[in-house]
Amino acid sequence: MEVIKSLFCVAGFAITAMPAIAEDYVLSTEKTSLIINAQAGRPAYIQYYGSRLAGNAAEQIYAAGQAYWHNSYPTFGIHSGGEKALAVTQADGSMTADLEVVSSALSSTADGELLTVNLRDKVYPLTVTQYFKAYRGTDVITTYTAISNTGKKPLVLHRFASAYIPVKRGDNYVTHTHGTWGAESMLEEEYITNGQKRFANKEGLRNAFGDNASVMVSLNGRATEESGYVIGGVLAWSGNYDIRLNASNTYLDLIAGINEETSHYSLGRNDTLTTPEFAMTYSTEGKGGVSRAFHRWARSYKLCHGSRSRDILLNSWEGVYFNVNQEGMDQMMEDMAGMGGELFVMDDGWFGKKYPRNGGETSLGDWVVCKEKLPGGIEGLTASAAKHGIRFGIWIEPEMTNTKSELFEKHPDWVLSQSNRPLSKGRGGTQVILDLTNPEVQDFVFGVVDNLLTRHPEIAYIKWDANAGIMNYSSRYLPADRQSHLYIDYHLGLGKVLKRIRAKYPDVVMQACASGGGRVNYGLLPYFDEFWTSDDTDALQRIYMQWGVSQFYPAIAMASHVSADRNHQTGRRLPLKFRFDVAMSGRLGMEIQPKNMSDADKTFARRAIAAYKGIRPIVQQGDLYRLVSPYEKRGTAALMYATPEKDKAVLFVYKTEHFINQNIPVIRLSGVDPSKTYRITDLTPADEKKTLGISGKTISGRLLKDAGLSLPLNGEYASIALQLEAVD
Ligand code: DGJ
Repeated sequence: MEVIKSLFCVAGFAITAMPAIAEDYVLSTEKTSLIINAQAGRPAYIQYYGSRLAGNAAEQIYAAGQAYWHNSYPTFGIHSGGEKALAVTQADGSMTADLEVVSSALSSTADGELLTVNLRDKVYPLTVTQYFKAYRGTDVITTYTAISNTGKKPLVLHRFASAYIPVKRGDNYVTHTHGTWGAESMLEEEYITNGQKRFANKEGLRNAFGDNASVMVSLNGRATEESGYVIGGVLAWSGNYDIRLNASNTYLDLIAGINEETSHYSLGRNDTLTTPEFAMTYSTEGKGGVSRAFHRWARSYKLCHGSRSRDILLNSWEGVYFNVNQEGMDQMMEDMAGMGGELFVMDDGWFGKKYPRNGGETSLGDWVVCKEKLPGGIEGLTASAAKHGIRFGIWIEPEMTNTKSELFEKHPDWVLSQSNRPLSKGRGGTQVILDLTNPEVQDFVFGVVDNLLTRHPEIAYIKWDANAGIMNYSSRYLPADRQSHLYIDYHLGLGKVLKRIRAKYPDVVMQACASGGGRVNYGLLPYFDEFWTSDDTDALQRIYMQWGVSQFYPAIAMASHVSADRNHQTGRRLPLKFRFDVAMSGRLGMEIQPKNMSDADKTFARRAIAAYKGIRPIVQQGDLYRLVSPYEKRGTAALMYATPEKDKAVLFVYKTEHFINQNIPVIRLSGVDPSKTYRITDLTPADEKKTLGISGKTISGRLLKDAGLSLPLNGEYASIALQLEAVD
């Protein structure tokens, strides 16, 4: 085999892509390498994924006996046993597929290095292009495929995974998040026994309800936050997905992609189905390393406006629910501006002409302002926001309608429905789902945003809600033989709409909300600036949920709001400081009726908001270090963010249980630089004049990291937020 010594190094970046041996491609990031063997006339093989290997990487892998020799895209038919990435019914009814490499190439793209492996069936007119992309400046490599019918007659795809990644079997644990409404993103970890473990979603629309489309797999026993070998994977898809871990004695295969159940997909002549990106990272620094790699990748490539700082907002929902009116909105804006807020978002309840929106039963689709509630129109609201020196945002739920709406009366065939069956309805007993496979409906949904933003260019923020899963699985648009495309084409249609919106309105801030945290996924993040984490705003429960979210998603995207003293979801009463300290560890906002806050509370809020402005770049752009997990039930949770240079950091500590003579764990700050010395500032003292004893002191990074801090978490629901700044 010919050894090619040339190194393709992208100037100034860590990514290298080196064909070390003629058919071996080594795709590397700063800390990881992936080796793909692609020789014409044979299947493509995945040989290795793990720590970065320098020099003759592939040769070393062979010498070390570590080459996997696993087909990189196994197909059903010839070797029919085991899990497959691809299963097809060919035009003549044959259920076999057998791929060989035709060609392969490495190229530099705007965002990294791309390996393209072109495969074709040895007999049938079917091609698969497999892509592997190393994102520049990150430790993330993604993979996906484009499957094409190059023949004249249609074929049907039954399996069409994005990724098939083998892992050498060890003492493996899987970490993932699970949750439904009000308790989203709860963290779970379990030992993987032989057999199959599957995380899948069939909800249709809100794919983060149930399991999130993300996993971490440890390779050598239970990983900690800072140690252990861990592979992390996330699927960038907003619809039904399927992530399988197939464990046997020697290998653990990770297969990820769209959930094909009830979704077999026909490809006509020259049709191509492109599967969503599966992103993976590998860490020798435990789970924290995986999270930090995904966070950096998200901010750099997969989150809209990932480097732009987020406004501190007040959202009207828990303050007034559907009782929107001009006076109430004005008052909320004035109060928020007075506390130092930067943006006000008017939630549900502002629209409907024939059917004013006073509850969940009517009006979705009728996106005209309700003049009885808002006689001054949206102009009145944007003018008021301008007067108070803040920006204005608005709620919509554009994928939905109610049977009691002018839209439904005009276009009953635009909703997912079957003409010979009664409609099943959701929220309010009337909510139904628009058929986004239909280009006319796509135009309408685009028009909802387009109309709002062309008429009111002052609108700076859109909260895009979606409060139903797919019901009435039938499209009036798709032909009879393509009904099984609905789950997939719905999301392709949604993607088209969002692309158009982003092309025309690149600056507007958008939040993905779906009955709370139903849309925490990497499929939508490129179009959205953030997601609504949960309708449950109880700060205590949020500690657990936000911990779960943080495994895979960056804090800048995690909307985290301070809500009422007696929480509307759990009924719990929590100190305002605790509520702020929790919300400040994400994208801070408020979800409260400010007129019910006392003057003292408003004063505290003003100070906390000002403090957040100071640490915003660290929380929103920094590296996360999780220090004490609330799931370990030690009565305390702690996390910190640090700048990449570790010259600035912020620490959050929360008491989650309260007992007499309780052992409060020592907090070791793994995210500081031991060679630096830090000045500590108490960020949110309940009483301005009574800061913690540690405030103003300087402590060495070595001490903070190794000996740690014993902090005075006195009383129930105590919390502490500290800023650390390196001093010379
Ligand atoms: C569900 C969302 O999660 C809430 O925040 C709120 O926007 C309501 N919908 C409004 O109907």
